[in-house]
Amino acid sequence: MTTPLPTNYEYAQALDAADNLSRFRNEFVHADEDLIYVDGNSLGQLPFRTIERMQAVIAQEWGQALIRGWNMGWYEAPSRIGAKLAQLVGAAENQVIACDSTSVNLFKLIIAALKLRSDRPCIVSDTLNFPSDLYVLQGCVDLLGQRHQVHQVPSTDTISIDIDAMCAAIDETTALVTLSHVVFKSGFLHDMAAITKRAHEVGALVLWDLSHSVGAAPIELDRCGVDFAVGCSYKYLNGGPGAPAFLYVRRDLQDQITSPIWGWLGHQTPFTFDTDYEPAEGMSKFLSGTPPMLSLLAVEPALDLMLEAGMESIRHKSVGLSSYFIELFDAMLAPLNFTLGSPRAAAQRGSHVSIRHPEGYRINRALIDEMQVLPDFREPDNIRVGIAPLYNSYSDIWETAQRIRTVVEEERYVHYPEQRLSVT
Ligand SMILES: Cc1ncc(COP(=O)(O)O)c(C=O)c1O
Repeated sequence: MTTPLPTNYEYAQALDAADNLSRFRNEFVHADEDLIYVDGNSLGQLPFRTIERMQAVIAQEWGQALIRGWNMGWYEAPSRIGAKLAQLVGAAENQVIACDSTSVNLFKLIIAALKLRSDRPCIVSDTLNFPSDLYVLQGCVDLLGQRHQVHQVPSTDTISIDIDAMCAAIDETTALVTLSHVVFKSGFLHDMAAITKRAHEVGALVLWDLSHSVGAAPIELDRCGVDFAVGCSYKYLNGGPGAPAFLYVRRDLQDQITSPIWGWLGHQTPFTFDTDYEPAEGMSKFLSGTPPMLSLLAVEPALDLMLEAGMESIRHKSVGLSSYFIELFDAMLAPLNFTLGSPRAAAQRGSHVSIRHPEGYRINRALIDEMQVLPDFREPDNIRVGIAPLYNSYSDIWETAQRIRTVVEEERYVHYPEQRLSVT
């Protein structure tokens, strides 16, 4: 038995005083110092450096350089930013490129993977995967003439997926295993090494969605021998709303596959304007059309911050904060009819903690509207507390638990309608 951590505010302050990442908090805009932002797993906060960079991009690069900007660093931006992303996902150079949305990148790689294993009829995923991933998968199956079966391994506890059940579902008929590394609702962290190993033992390919793990949990794509990966940059990477996503293809597979979108920027020589498509070498062939340059360039300063902090320190603090929140949950919130919607073991957790309550939706509304706490809500009853180690403090976590307790004890949520807002 481990001794519970103290639940008083002074203890949170002491943890903050010992935090070696605390200086990064001031790198971010805190427009309202009283607001506790715990939704970095949906949309990361704005770094000051991004403001500076965007001002320069708009005023000097777009404003003055105009079309010349493409030869002054814009054209290389997808690869340059990909190289920075590569360092965060454990990939050697020339295997990551920044482009398109996560859903579009999933489409490109699912089609490419199924083509590479065209003799196999099965695809394995799980019931906890992000809906867009499952929809894109179903769309790919439809596009290919309904020749594949998708097996979604079920969860027995709505939080996690049993590793033995997952491995048992992968066999010689499996073309592709595609999963979210960290589950969007519960924060469950899959065992990437074990699942990738199992898939390769039977000749299947693996495609990981890193949207909820990149910038929050350690990722070792090369070491695990992963085939393909995608991820977004607007969550823990703080790239901004709708920021472009990225994709990874293991180097030895790059020559074996093509993108199903034969756009001009994926051509070997786009500016010869040939009428026949010839794919570019390496990762460039996965580009499609002109990148949204303003959004793409906004990702870069945020990545530099991540690289400065270092993934090891970020993960260390993420586990510290999320474990502390669970301690406070046990002491303050479990007695108020909350249940934990995330794994207790830190090794099985990403960087958000879900807490469940029958009145979760209205509690979340009250937190946002009158308690200055900003988490998000996922059906049917999950309040997700997203923990971003670069700007969240132990005091934030203490305040979050405390204010949730106040909402429930004082029944402040009863004034809110059950009717959901468009975005929850
Ligand atoms: C795990 C996961 N995958 C995919 C997506 C969708 O990404 P996009 O909107 O960039 O296509 C999300 C969005 O939140 C997500 O959480």
